[in-house]
Amino acid sequence: MRPIVIAANWKMHTTPADAGDLAALIASRTDVPEVVRVICPPFVALSAVRDALLGSGVAVGAQNVHHERTGAFTGEVSAPMLVGLAEWVLIGHSERRRDAGETDTQVNAKLERAWESGLRPVLCVGEQLGERESGRAEGVVRSQVLGALQGHALALRSAGLVVAYEPVWAIGTGRTARGSDAAAMADVIRETAANAGWAADAADLPVLYGGSVTSASIGEFLAEAAIDGALVGGASLKPDEMAGIVARAAVTARARREAGE
Ligand code: PGA
Repeated sequence: MRPIVIAANWKMHTTPADAGDLAALIASRTDVPEVVRVICPPFVALSAVRDALLGSGVAVGAQNVHHERTGAFTGEVSAPMLVGLAEWVLIGHSERRRDAGETDTQVNAKLERAWESGLRPVLCVGEQLGERESGRAEGVVRSQVLGALQGHALALRSAGLVVAYEPVWAIGTGRTARGSDAAAMADVIRETAANAGWAADAADLPVLYGGSVTSASIGEFLAEAAIDGALVGGASLKPDEMAGIVARAAVTARARREAGE
C-alpha cells in the first residue's frame, strides 16, 4: 500500500518568529494518523518549525538542497547541514528550475545528496503550458524523471522517494489540471521509473499532484487511484484549507486501506 502524503510548500513565506505558531496550528487542525503530513518552511524557519512540531506526527521538510556536499557556494545549503533540522526535502521544484536554472543533472545529484544524508526526497516534475498545448507534456515529464533517476541503483523502499507531478501552468495560477490528466501522468512517471531501473517496485512509488490544490479541488485528485496526495503551495499557509485538505485525504487513506485488506 502506498502512503497518502500531504506536503506543504511554504515557499518564501513566514519568518522564524511566526513559522512555529503556524506549524503548530496546522498540526493541531490536521491530527490524522492515516495521512503522512510534511511542512516545508524556508530554511531559516526550519529550526523553529521542527521545535513546534515535536511530538505532533508532522514531519519537517526543506525546500531545496545543494547538489554538492560542501564547498565555496555562497548562500547555499547542503544536505549534511539539514540533518537534524529536516527529514524531507523538495528537489527540482519548477520555481527553482525556472529561477535558479536547475538542470536535470543537478537534480540527479541532489537526489544522491539527499539519500546520502538520510533525507526523503520529493522529486518535482511537470511541463510548461506550451509543452502541454503542443502535445509534449508526457515526453517532458518522462525526460525529467529519467534525468533525475538514472544511475541511482537504490531500492525504492529504502530510498523513500516520492514524486510530485506539478504542471507549471497550474502552480499559483488558480488553474488545476484535470484529475484524469494527473492520473495519466502518474502512470507515465511510474513507467519511466521502471525503465530507469526501478522496475521491481515502481508500482510502490507514491505520486502526488501539485498546482493550485485547495480543500475544494483535492477530492478530484484523490479520486484517482494513481494519485497519492498533494504538494500544496498557497493553500498550505491557511490552517482552514490544510484542515480540509488533510480531512479529505484521510477519507481516501481509510478507503484504500479497507479496499487493500
Ligand atoms: P500552489 O503551489 O499550490 O500555490 O499552486 C504548489 C507548488 O508550487 O508546490
